[in-house]
Amino acid sequence: MSETESSGEATGEEEAPVVELDNAEIVYDRNFLAVQGVSMKADRGDIVALLGPNGAGKSTILKMISGIGRSERGEVTRGDVYYEGEKVTNFQTKEMVDRGVTHILEGRRVFPDLTVEENLRCGLYREGRRIRYDKSDYELAFEYFPQLEDLLDVQAGYTSGGEQQMLVIARALIHRPNLLLLDEPSLGLAPKLVQDIYETLREINREEEITMIIADQNAQRTLEIADYGYVLENGQIELNDPADVLVNREEIKEFYLGTSSEESRYSDIRHYKIRKRYT
Ligand SMILES: Nc1ncnc2c1ncn2[C@@H]1O[C@H](COP(=O)(O)OP(=O)(O)OP(=O)(O)O)[C@@H](O)[C@H]1O
Ligand SMILES: [Mg+2]
Repeated sequence: MSETESSGEATGEEEAPVVELDNAEIVYDRNFLAVQGVSMKADRGDIVALLGPNGAGKSTILKMISGIGRSERGEVTRGDVYYEGEKVTNFQTKEMVDRGVTHILEGRRVFPDLTVEENLRCGLYREGRRIRYDKSDYELAFEYFPQLEDLLDVQAGYTSGGEQQMLVIARALIHRPNLLLLDEPSLGLAPKLVQDIYETLREINREEEITMIIADQNAQRTLEIADYGYVLENGQIELNDPADVLVNREEIKEFYLGTSSEESRYSDIRHYKIRKRYT
């Protein structure tokens, strides 16, 4: 694909995906190969699941889409990244924020000493500019996370893990992103809470028309709300399918869900070093 060519939108027949990686190779520190030959995409309005064990490259891919990986000395050294048909390979974070990409990093990063309200206010930057504080911005957040309204004056550091996850999603929502990247939103949360948060993410996706890529080790939950899924291992895509197909594949059942009906058949598959999950 040439510098000026956009991936598919010029014909007017087929809309370009919101984001697309074309045979991407990602290297840290100029010598550590983290991701190799990855081609994947997220179509408009979809939720895409990015699954795989520790170190597979899920966060790396999200970071190179949002540009955050650049500040960790990550670089796309082969292949390309496209956003809305535009080549954005190795763009900086600011350039991607300006284009409507919001990245929720792993680990529920709230400002612990600030109140919930002050944390939400940090979301009031749009298109790279601080926008005027307006209560209606919060209303969008409260629509999906009404619990937060009662916590506005509480220091974020004193709220529960689930409330903090809601807070970071709410804060991201206030950006009104076009593409939301979520890294391990279920990590360390009780199953019921994960279910609630994932159902809310699905609602947000549908109602606000926000395309999402969710990197998570919780394959079952993520595939329940996803439209499409990719399974990474050792920096490469091992499986990819529509979510409803992927969730029924024996490899997924066996190695992620622990519910395989054909255990012996798959018990000796070498390359799935994925630890079993019994969730
Ligand atoms: N900033 C960095 N500098 C150098 N290497 C890194 C950096 N971040 C990640 N890596 C390496 O890149 C590989 C992919 O890591 P990544 O964090 O993308 O995996 P992951 O799939 O998100 O794993 P996890 O489920 O543990 O979050 C790993 O080998 C990791 O050690
Ligand atoms: Mg990660």
